[in-house]
Amino acid sequence: MARPSLRIAPSILSADFARLAEEVARVESAGADWLHVDVMDGHFVPNLTVGPPIVEALRKATKLPLDVHLMMTHPDAFIAEFVQAGATYLTVHVEACPHLHRTIQSIKERGVKAGVTLNPATSLATVEEILGEADLLLVMSVNPGFGGQQFIPSVLEKIARARQLIDQTGSGALLEVDGGVKVDNAGRIIEAGADVLVSGSAIFCSADYGAVIGALRRASHRTAPASGVAPAGRPARRL
Ligand code: DX5
Ligand code: ZN
Repeated sequence: MARPSLRIAPSILSADFARLAEEVARVESAGADWLHVDVMDGHFVPNLTVGPPIVEALRKATKLPLDVHLMMTHPDAFIAEFVQAGATYLTVHVEACPHLHRTIQSIKERGVKAGVTLNPATSLATVEEILGEADLLLVMSVNPGFGGQQFIPSVLEKIARARQLIDQTGSGALLEVDGGVKVDNAGRIIEAGADVLVSGSAIFCSADYGAVIGALRRASHRTAPASGVAPAGRPARRL
């Protein structure tokens, strides 16, 4: 099966929330393919972020697909609200879903694409039985909860195994990678098999969003990272 073209999904976690619509317009005109929205409940992960009202507001502010990453202990209780708010993809953590098949069906039957994700310490075997049902497999390359963390190097090999699993099972799922994705490691991540790169601080903490998005899109381990693509905008920080 032909691989889909690479998608770049800026994570708004590192955006300036006081000027969110402006930030979204900037990444949209800078060539973003999707918008990644990190929902954190202060329980599954040690941080709190946004909920359905912000997704609803974003839906009105952009035409980009909304890739909503639910870092929540009880995602099932909020699926209907996030669907109503306008999510394009709803991705749940395997660690939070004892009835993952039911959760995935509940998302899909509402007409929304269903994603499944796993933490760095969670085995790929936990998603093997559900891959045929999923529209997206998200491999976390940091422990979720904060932006601006370092990519965990051992995850690169897991991404390659996830690619094999998707291809061998004939699942149509897109393979997404989230956490610590930068211009200087994007090539290796793409080569390992990623279809979608989430990137927060690398884009939003730079001065030129278009330059970073372009460099991520062109990245390959065969090409040297473009120089001068990420001049300091705001300092990268844990968010
Ligand atoms: C981490 C979030 C990520 C985060 C990525 O829990 O799921 O989407 O925003 O940010 P960077 O690219 O800065 O690691
Ligand atoms: Zn995320």
